[in-house]
Amino acid sequence: MVHTQIGKDIDYAASLLRSGEIVAIPTETVYGLAGNAFSEQAVKKIYAIKNRPLHNPLIVHLAEKSFLDRIAINIPSTAFLLLEKFSPGPLTILLEKKESIPGIVTSGLPHVAVRFPSHPMTIELLRLLDFPLAAPSANPFGYISPTRAEHVMKQLGGKIPYILDGGICDKGIESTVVGFQGEVPVVHRLGAISLEDIRHLIPGTITKTREEHQPVSPGMLLHHYSPSTKTILTDDLESAIKQAGNKKAGVISFRRTIHNIPNDHQYTLSSSGDLEEAARNLYDALHQLDALQLDLIIVEKVPDEGIGKAINDRLERAAARR
Ligand code: TXA
Ligand code: MG
Repeated sequence: MVHTQIGKDIDYAASLLRSGEIVAIPTETVYGLAGNAFSEQAVKKIYAIKNRPLHNPLIVHLAEKSFLDRIAINIPSTAFLLLEKFSPGPLTILLEKKESIPGIVTSGLPHVAVRFPSHPMTIELLRLLDFPLAAPSANPFGYISPTRAEHVMKQLGGKIPYILDGGICDKGIESTVVGFQGEVPVVHRLGAISLEDIRHLIPGTITKTREEHQPVSPGMLLHHYSPSTKTILTDDLESAIKQAGNKKAGVISFRRTIHNIPNDHQYTLSSSGDLEEAARNLYDALHQLDALQLDLIIVEKVPDEGIGKAINDRLERAAARR
């Protein structure tokens, strides 16, 4: 066990990372569990702390576009188009990797996932370092991603020395992961940038969905992002609540308050029906209800459009049985 501190000391976080330690960092999507991407030893620690299988590769985080040439080659021109429009921000692109990135970061794959986060504290941190940060979401493998420093503390306290506290994550849902077939963008994981927005920029963009059965991006595995409490996803909250009978049920609704459920057992994602707000609140809702030791969490699907597609995708996985 190590003593875990929460704080806002960017210099201290940098010094820990320079000495090979693992630090939780804020990003605009979710908190990351960061280590020196050039150090095999540091990256090994990340997998161990997360209990993550070694065949599930990590995203490399950068602050400066000029750094790209140190880690990737043969970058498609559509990648630059996407970067120009969506970075810094919740876009992750898969690029042919250079030797500088150890194989353990990419699970031996020839491509490295790269992202330029927009959280100001993490940008400042990256600028203090002469190496990029490999960082998966800062949750134990398969569990709910953290969108507040306290979520990280709850899940990984005692395992890392420091959590850099950047407040509540603005987007609340992970980055959109995009690879390339030649110049054609291929969306591997839905995320905070909607498919519509990517297609608006590059109309030929295709998707590799889970139905095609090739989990190129293991974030596409089922029973990911799951609470410990049994979780049900439904289009019809009222019937699902009725069916739960005497069970102690928590409810996450998109925009309503449900009258026969105690207030502290329910969470409304966005009373104004704003999908961005719903995304921001999603993981906090799951964390909160999961802590109540209920028999069941019933979640209402959100409208399947824009970022709502990514929200429903995460909810389907949360509801898939372990
Ligand atoms: O928003 C995010 O992306 C957050 C923050 C911390 O940046 N990170 C995150 O990391 O969600 P993680 O490890 O939980 O999810 C990374 C996803 C996984 O689905 C992984 O399989 C995929 O990216 N990925 C990473 N490297 C890859 C690669 N070389 N090829 C294909 N997929 C890759
Ligand atoms: Mg994750």
